[in-house]
Amino acid sequence: MIETKRWNIRNDQVYNKHAIEEAARLLKSGKTVAFPTETVYGLGADATNEAAVAKIFKAKGRPQDNPLIAHVATVEQLRRLVDNLPAYVENLINVFTPGPLTFVLKSNGACAANVTAGLSTIGVRIPDHPVAHKLLQLADVPVAAPSANVSGRPSPTNAEHVWEDLHGKIAGLLDGGPTGVGVESTVIDCTQDIPIILRPGGVTKQQLESVVGTVMIDPGLAHEKEKPKSPGMKYRHYSPEVPLMLVAGTAARIQANIDEQQIKGNRVGVLASEQVAKQLHHVEVRSLGANLHEIASNLYDGLRAFKQRDVDVIICEAFSEDGIGQAVMNRLKKAASRIIR
Ligand code: TXA
Ligand code: MG
Repeated sequence: MIETKRWNIRNDQVYNKHAIEEAARLLKSGKTVAFPTETVYGLGADATNEAAVAKIFKAKGRPQDNPLIAHVATVEQLRRLVDNLPAYVENLINVFTPGPLTFVLKSNGACAANVTAGLSTIGVRIPDHPVAHKLLQLADVPVAAPSANVSGRPSPTNAEHVWEDLHGKIAGLLDGGPTGVGVESTVIDCTQDIPIILRPGGVTKQQLESVVGTVMIDPGLAHEKEKPKSPGMKYRHYSPEVPLMLVAGTAARIQANIDEQQIKGNRVGVLASEQVAKQLHHVEVRSLGANLHEIASNLYDGLRAFKQRDVDVIICEAFSEDGIGQAVMNRLKKAASRIIR
């Protein structure tokens, strides 16, 4: 166990400079610090320091072959990590940075080898969050940061989630309140002529296509037989404490599945849109929100909310795959132990 220092900077009008300065010093001295971004909380370490990066893998219990995203404050810093940028990447950078988009590019070897898990490419992202921005600016090094959860669990969208998973295993936690977007960044492979989405996320396929024309989706995302290009996408992920059943269809169909589970003697918890939640009865329901953006924002908190002591199974509505719904459904399908189409 190590002591985890926690700074509450949620209510600071001007972000508490001393807390972020202290956190940046910890990063520079080879320690791990969790911090908020606009997507989920990240667990950061100096990406140029192999021993520091190793601490991330250890704290999370992360498989060694799963590469990390390098976070930087500016486009100039991004350029220092990669070989050359295809022209379309410049357009994407102009429109979507800072923001929930991770560029996979040819690495120039500036980061430690364990950041990229031995790959010749590196994922780089410029987060759009004032705390992350200030921290990266003060640290003045690229910061490797996966989501700040124990490997396999839902990603953390507030500091409580990080604390629950990692206190005693990391040096610091900057508590900047809930994150916002709620699902992770879109990971896009920019090493080919046509960009390929490796992980759907905060920036949608339609948004990307409006800037660069055709965008492909890694076939490994849709078909279980194909191996995903992004190492992280092959693992079971985002798992709640109790089994999750993903059910497509109307409120009536979801109710029928709830009834069936209850007749078997199972205690059921439900995650649904506000509209569907209102129509369900005799069951504990958590509404995730009235639209796909709210649902994305509340998704991981919802997945963490139901505990083993209270429920035996979670039944979750299958949502539309439009826009950010693609990322939401990608995560839910991975979290689910059963899918009823
Ligand atoms: O929103 C986010 O991206 C958050 C915040 C903290 O920035 N980070 C995050 O990191 O979700 P992580 O490690 O939980 O997920 C990164 C994903 C993994 O699926 C990993 O395999 C993939 O990105 N990835 C990283 N570098 C890659 C590379 N060079 N080639 C292919 N996939 C890569
Ligand atoms: Mg993750």
